[in-house]
Amino acid sequence: MSDNKPTTFVIFGASGDLTRRKLIPALFNSYCKGRLPENFLIVGFARRPWDDEQLRQILREGMQELASDTYDAEKWESFAPKISYAKGDLSTLEDFQALKEHLAKVEGEPGNRLYYLATAPRFFVPIVENLGQADMVEQSAGWRRVVVEKPFGHDLASAKSLNNEIQAVFEEDQIYRIDHYLGKETAQNILYFRFANTIFEPIWNRNYVDNVQITVTESVDVGRRAGYYDQAGVVRDMFQNHLMQLLSLVAMEPPASFKAVAVRNEKAKLFHAIRPLSLQKTVRAQYDGYLQAEEVPQGSTTPTYAAMQLYIDNWRWQGVPFYLRSGKALKTKNTEIVIEFKRPPHLMFDDIQDEDFTANILSLCIQPDEGIHLKLEAKVPDSHITQPVDMEFHYRSSFRGNSLPDAYERLLLDAVRGDASLFTRADGIEAAWALMDPVITGWENEADAPPMVNYEPGSWGPAAADELLAQTGRVWRHACSHPDC
Ligand code: BG6
Repeated sequence: MSDNKPTTFVIFGASGDLTRRKLIPALFNSYCKGRLPENFLIVGFARRPWDDEQLRQILREGMQELASDTYDAEKWESFAPKISYAKGDLSTLEDFQALKEHLAKVEGEPGNRLYYLATAPRFFVPIVENLGQADMVEQSAGWRRVVVEKPFGHDLASAKSLNNEIQAVFEEDQIYRIDHYLGKETAQNILYFRFANTIFEPIWNRNYVDNVQITVTESVDVGRRAGYYDQAGVVRDMFQNHLMQLLSLVAMEPPASFKAVAVRNEKAKLFHAIRPLSLQKTVRAQYDGYLQAEEVPQGSTTPTYAAMQLYIDNWRWQGVPFYLRSGKALKTKNTEIVIEFKRPPHLMFDDIQDEDFTANILSLCIQPDEGIHLKLEAKVPDSHITQPVDMEFHYRSSFRGNSLPDAYERLLLDAVRGDASLFTRADGIEAAWALMDPVITGWENEADAPPMVNYEPGSWGPAAADELLAQTGRVWRHACSHPDC
């Protein structure tokens, strides 16, 4: 676990967007909070002909532009000298040998190393192989860990092969596959909410829950990422990783401890209990205008929106539909998990029409208005009818002064501490791919696959997604109270 040895963060892809946008702000914020190991260094590796000063300058500008609320010029002055640059090619072994020498020189004494693969996925294997061949993985001087960014594979076969190739060099407990949704404070709170309270768990099952809905909408369109996005589509980009992880937090059995092995065992069990999806219970859609975006090939059939219904075949969830939806260019950015409870078995109030009655709804708002809502029916004063009322908890009011850290801050510190509970294990990734792969290939190849439909940018998505729920008399629920929603 954590120790007092010096720790070096080696970032492959140091000239890229992720480093500027996420990694450096996360490391800098942790530094300002005094949470980084006492002796730490950051070594950036990339092909650009830069020197230490140039890298520092670019990262500082990134902080000022992208993380201005946490940028502190004075603190940066003491942080920047920790950063150095090693120029090299990700596929060239000699450049890794030069990196090794650079590391030995700046570190001065043996220490720990966190290798962060912040590159395009095609470089993951060459980097790992070169680290192995340059003898940079061996742990006698300190621990060696590798953080692997997404996308982790393109389908089940490539995810398996990537797992094999990384495991040929690193042990599984040295591998940290990142899914930044798991680092979100409010996603972690799902487990605390379920298992640090007594009153919810007894009703968290098929006897009380009618259906569960997971919504991850984004208002942004594909922007300048169309080159990547058109190859991926919404299922690879959002479902296989983020939505499946959120689903696992909501639906898994209680782990015996919060240790990585216990949490990840329960997740794996859950994924294996999910029934293969029925293509007929999926919706795929593309927003109007996607085909005109830069770098999108003519006639592309890449979905930018999907909705799915799935079932979990175990005692807790038998017969409870789970609905998942996600897409780009929608009305608003909103990540929300709704648990819709069953209606009371008998309504004894004569003046309440069945159709006017809303069952209890619990909404876990992951972002942007982080909090929890419980919708209850209450009697409208001086009448015989009821109306839904909201019991709300908001992070911003309950935890004034405690800002929500960015997901990368927590995940980087966990990797340094050797805590992998919020990282995905090889079997978890493969199980999620095994569920999503048939949907992707089915859409492309099956004659009876649902047709691609279009939706208007700025809407809540295609009508077909509403119809998916309407088939069983259900509707998408939305309980978070953000003004844009
Ligand atoms: C990324 C996807 O993993 O998650 C992006 O590649 C998406 O397409 C992003 O926009 C959403 O993350 P967040 O934290 O903004 O909800």
